[in-house]
Amino acid sequence: DKGNHRHFMEKEIYEQGEVVSHTLANYLDFAGGRVKPDTSGIDFAALDRLAISACGTAYYAGLIGKYWFERFARLPVEIDVASEFRYREMPLTGTMAALFITQSGETADTLASLRYCKAQGVRIGSVVNVVESTIARESDAVFPTLAGPEIGVASTKAFTCQLSVLASLAMIAGRARGTLSDADEKAMVQALVEAPRLFNQILNTIQPQIEALSRELSRFKDVLYLGRGTSYPLALEGALKLKEISYIHAEGYAAGELKHGPIALIDETMPVIVIAPHDRLFEKTVSNMQEVAARGGQIILITDAAGAKASTLKTMATIVLPEVSEIVAPILYALPVQLIAYHTAVFMGTDVDQPRNLAKSVTVE
Ligand code: F6R
Repeated sequence: DKGNHRHFMEKEIYEQGEVVSHTLANYLDFAGGRVKPDTSGIDFAALDRLAISACGTAYYAGLIGKYWFERFARLPVEIDVASEFRYREMPLTGTMAALFITQSGETADTLASLRYCKAQGVRIGSVVNVVESTIARESDAVFPTLAGPEIGVASTKAFTCQLSVLASLAMIAGRARGTLSDADEKAMVQALVEAPRLFNQILNTIQPQIEALSRELSRFKDVLYLGRGTSYPLALEGALKLKEISYIHAEGYAAGELKHGPIALIDETMPVIVIAPHDRLFEKTVSNMQEVAARGGQIILITDAAGAKASTLKTMATIVLPEVSEIVAPILYALPVQLIAYHTAVFMGTDVDQPRNLAKSVTVE
């Protein structure tokens, strides 16, 4: 049932405040402002390495998780798309653990990667939405996302719930490894707990602006997404969402890679969507934006009030979100990224919930 929404995808975008809050409550002690004691049986303190493997949107969630595990838990992370992981004959050791991220829990390449690790005695954790799935059953520890059934083929609420679990796990690991201070843990938990309340307010505020912008975007053949730090995987996710439901060619790039190639493409026919909260990397990203502007590229900037004020460049649109802590930003910035793809596809008249050639669950290689 789509309720009063036109598509399941829209319904699922608007459900995110609720399901993210529900998911976080499974890992965080809201009242105490701490992470809950970990009962997974994965001894994060004893690990020297974590290998993450997933496909598509779940892989991008894992990429953001890598930044968090390394920064907050000082735990080195290797990450691959599952179709590469399963064949690359990575050396495995008993002092590492493997983490698989999947909405369906049935993705063939992710499952094959899991079995590859399991056969070599590596401990297996999985971040799964369908807890009755094969991947959940074959894991030593299951970290559920409580997104509820996701019907739209393009993943939205599963992604923000995966990020919520990964943020929590990075804090759990940080605590186990003694790398996360009490004060930082409290501040991060509080920021996460407060975030879901902002979702509907943000969606309602930016919706008219994004709907208008999407009409303009639908005229273009190519779109480039740029981001730095945890905004880089979001740029990849934005490009994936746009191509899969609107069929507009899009690419995501690390902002710093612009001058190593994609800058050759910049002209007035390829808009550039820049994801840049006003964080410690903002100034660097602004200089990449200047390079785009100097070549006649049109910029769509997704930032916060401080970022909008600090950037003096002319933009096609500036989408302003509330100023939030770094751990919350990727979860919140997923919202405009999803809405841009959604409204562009709706305007172009594609089958949003059932895009051509795609399946919700990819159970063959
Ligand atoms: C993109 C999308 C796909 C899936 C991918 C993995 O919107 O839905 O890229 O994320 O096929 O699927 P799961 O998470 O079920 O393993």
